[in-house]
Amino acid sequence: MSKLITMNVDGQELQVEEGKNLIDALSAVGIHIPHFCYHPALGFDGNCRMCLVEVEGARGPQIACNTPVKEGMKVSLSSESSMNLRRKVLEFELINHPLDCPICDQAGECKLQDYYMEAGLSKSRMEVEKVAKEKNLDFGCGVVHDQERCVLCARCVRFLRKYTKTAELGIVNRCDKAKVTTFPEKPINNRYALNVVDICPVGAMTSRDFRFKQRVWFMSSEKSVCHGCAKGCSIYVDHNQEKYKAERVYRFRPRENAQVNGHFMCDAGRLSYRKENENRLTTAKASERFEAVDIATSQAVALLSAAKGKAVFIVSPSWTTEQMAVAKSLATHYDGYLSGYADGYIVKGDGDDLLLKEDKAANRASLELLGISTDRQKLISNLKTAEVVVVLNNDLSLTASDKREFEALFAGKQVIFVGSHRIALADSAQTVIPCASYTEYAGVVVNVDSILQEVTCAIEKECFARRPEQVMAALSGNAIKAELGAVRQQLSASVPALAQVDWNAIPENGLNLKGGAQ
Ligand code: SF4
Ligand code: SF4
Ligand code: FES
Repeated sequence: MSKLITMNVDGQELQVEEGKNLIDALSAVGIHIPHFCYHPALGFDGNCRMCLVEVEGARGPQIACNTPVKEGMKVSLSSESSMNLRRKVLEFELINHPLDCPICDQAGECKLQDYYMEAGLSKSRMEVEKVAKEKNLDFGCGVVHDQERCVLCARCVRFLRKYTKTAELGIVNRCDKAKVTTFPEKPINNRYALNVVDICPVGAMTSRDFRFKQRVWFMSSEKSVCHGCAKGCSIYVDHNQEKYKAERVYRFRPRENAQVNGHFMCDAGRLSYRKENENRLTTAKASERFEAVDIATSQAVALLSAAKGKAVFIVSPSWTTEQMAVAKSLATHYDGYLSGYADGYIVKGDGDDLLLKEDKAANRASLELLGISTDRQKLISNLKTAEVVVVLNNDLSLTASDKREFEALFAGKQVIFVGSHRIALADSAQTVIPCASYTEYAGVVVNVDSILQEVTCAIEKECFARRPEQVMAALSGNAIKAELGAVRQQLSASVPALAQVDWNAIPENGLNLKGGAQ
């Protein structure tokens, strides 16, 4: 943190970070200055004037987004004259605004709405007709644009120039004819496009996927980590349970984290929330017949007990560190071999310099921390002599060659599949036990840069009441520890890199295992 300086806001003495602009410096101490065009990831543009504030000694109102804080500075935000500045800017913004809040997807999280309510502007003084513009424009990549709601802050334009460097958007025309547009026959086409929906401060950019699905005030949000690749972007999981319906995840949104993903996330990760609702494994199977979970579990315990020393366990590289530790205990309990083989999760050429990684496993780093082998040859040679194979949510059918080879290796063996989704093995295994997916349990994952982050349980579905660690404990006849606190203690004692982790105070932006919290 840089040096702290003392300044005065509305008569209150505050200590803020030197070198920051007024918006960022005051936001860090909980004071929000209304603004549209400024975004910390895009810098200042100065086009909206929504952030005008009065600074003692300055010649006229100053834009907070381009005014650095100074020692002894006195700023007025809530005086009548400061409020008036905001009212006037808002009045301009609203001259041609369609005021369609009741059918706008942004309602409830719209800055224009919030500022209007704060500044207490009431009736429009306009007597001429509003300028009509186009609505429901398909900008590509699932981005839908409403020109009438746009405040022309240019955040979307700047994001595509500065961040993705694809520059698909521009602002054309002037005054009340100005509008954001794509170039002829060149829609938005990049893997981070839906971030423009988040950074648009109003309802001018909406997501085709999320539009009209939920009112945001009905949803709850949980902090978690995207499991789409090894980057592990910090996210919010927005979910809701509608009357007579099962609880569902409705969207993932990026959660600001300077040491992982900044302010953004990729579209694939964002839309991967769908997997939490779709193709879920809900029924257990024993002797190739649908059975109750307890019957399938008892059968699996009998099979494993009879094959002591001849069982192979293959754990998912995306399960939490705690679940991997429980898998290790389970394998030890049956004198079995544990593998975390996951070559199929690597998609060559699918990474980039922004966030996306080629490795689609969320927690491969923990396999290494826990000393779980990922060696293909070792797994194959152990499988050759095994009688029982327990696949712990590891998808071995991600590449055609893996699918072919492991199907052949599994032939003639008893295969037990514990999983959250209906992958190929859910049909072919003789014993199947469903379990929760990552929005339904808590734990930690470690990303490709050694940042340990917490995954929180967002929703609890009755049909997946059992978390993976509970299933594994049942598979051991409850002989192994699976309670989160106990597993974490065991991890701190046995894994040097986790020895210093304070499990009750993991920072929201994660813990850098190579250099502490940042
Ligand atoms: S669409 Fe949104 S982000 Fe883009 S200029 Fe308009 S208000 Fe700003
Ligand atoms: S970059 Fe990876 S972790 Fe981040 S949002 Fe995309 S898929 Fe998820
Ligand atoms: S936020 Fe300062 S001028 Fe727009």
